[in-house]
Amino acid sequence: MATVSLATVSRRFAAGSAAVDAVDLDVRHGEFLAVLGPSGSGKTTLLRLVAGFERPDAGRITIGDRIVADGPLFVPPEARRIGMVFQSYALWPHMDVRRNVGYPLAVQGITGAAYADRVAKALNAVGLTGYETRRPAELSGGQRQRVALARCLVMEPAVVLLDEPLANLDVHLRALLQAEFTAFHRATGATMIYVTHDQTEALGLADRVAVMDQGRIVQLASPEELYRAPLTPMVARFVGRGAVIPAIVHTVHNGRADVEVLGRRAQLRVAPDQATGAALVCLRPEDLAVGTNGPVARVARKAFQGSHVAIEARLDGAVLPMHLGPDQAAALGDTVGIDIRDGWVIPARD
Ligand SMILES: Nc1ncnc2c1ncn2[C@@H]1O[C@H](COP(=O)(O)OP(=O)(O)O)[C@@H](O)[C@H]1O
Ligand SMILES: [Mg+2]
Repeated sequence: MATVSLATVSRRFAAGSAAVDAVDLDVRHGEFLAVLGPSGSGKTTLLRLVAGFERPDAGRITIGDRIVADGPLFVPPEARRIGMVFQSYALWPHMDVRRNVGYPLAVQGITGAAYADRVAKALNAVGLTGYETRRPAELSGGQRQRVALARCLVMEPAVVLLDEPLANLDVHLRALLQAEFTAFHRATGATMIYVTHDQTEALGLADRVAVMDQGRIVQLASPEELYRAPLTPMVARFVGRGAVIPAIVHTVHNGRADVEVLGRRAQLRVAPDQATGAALVCLRPEDLAVGTNGPVARVARKAFQGSHVAIEARLDGAVLPMHLGPDQAAALGDTVGIDIRDGWVIPARD
């Protein structure tokens, strides 16, 4: 398995702005990296550049210790040792599991003992030994996904790229398959780049998450850090659906700031080099509680979620996500006082 590096890589299509815009990215050996971003942010183009289906207009791509794209130098996809899994598994319905998995080998003219060994190894890695003679129609959704993974593994890829592999599935199957991806990553130690627009998937699966917006990586961090300390308003909103509220930072001391927000003073978390003055802050449900002294907001939406009731509290144009416990009744249109217990001063603007 290998590292993947992009150094100021750009890809611009004829009509529009750059789909991938001067991206720097270092994926570690054996890492599970998620690329998270809204539709059109450049995720697929980024994967296709790594795979070699797109040629960069500028920059350098390195896989392991080999440069695969840099100016006139360009290594074609079939020579990059990349495995790719797409949204649709694209299995051959008329072929059994063994032939589906062995298909890339057959295309390369690999036969006999080498073929049998590699197919057996790939099936073993995804826990499908014993299913060799089944057809795709005789498998569950999860097993089909594993056949697709085995077919990608049979080529002994240096890196596995996955482009929204769960996007078309129902919630239940997605949860099951997320567990399969984690198991697959553990069993193979593969370096994986997993593209998704679903923040739950990215945060739940990956070692680190790169958030993309308009062709750029706006933040690359662990799931915990992305959630707790988003660098920009876009990341704050997109990851964990934080409320982004204008504020004034008065003083900064020991990682806390004295901030004026929603017409009152609050102590929020900040980056050590945060300047004073106008800023935006990120408030999440766990930062807010129903209080008696705080600013008064109106309950605009309400949804029962089992362990809590999620509400949207509106105040001066701000929409605040809050969670109420089972003993806290609030009806639509009620007013509630809001206690600001914590929050994060966002360091940058979009
Ligand atoms: N082959 C192409 N020709 C022209 N424009 C493209 C092509 N592929 C992607 N784009 C444009 O590049 C941008 C990024 O697309 P894409 O990488 O598919 O984003 P994502 O996978 O995040 O949805 C979009 O604006 C898209 O329309
Ligand atoms: Mg895409």
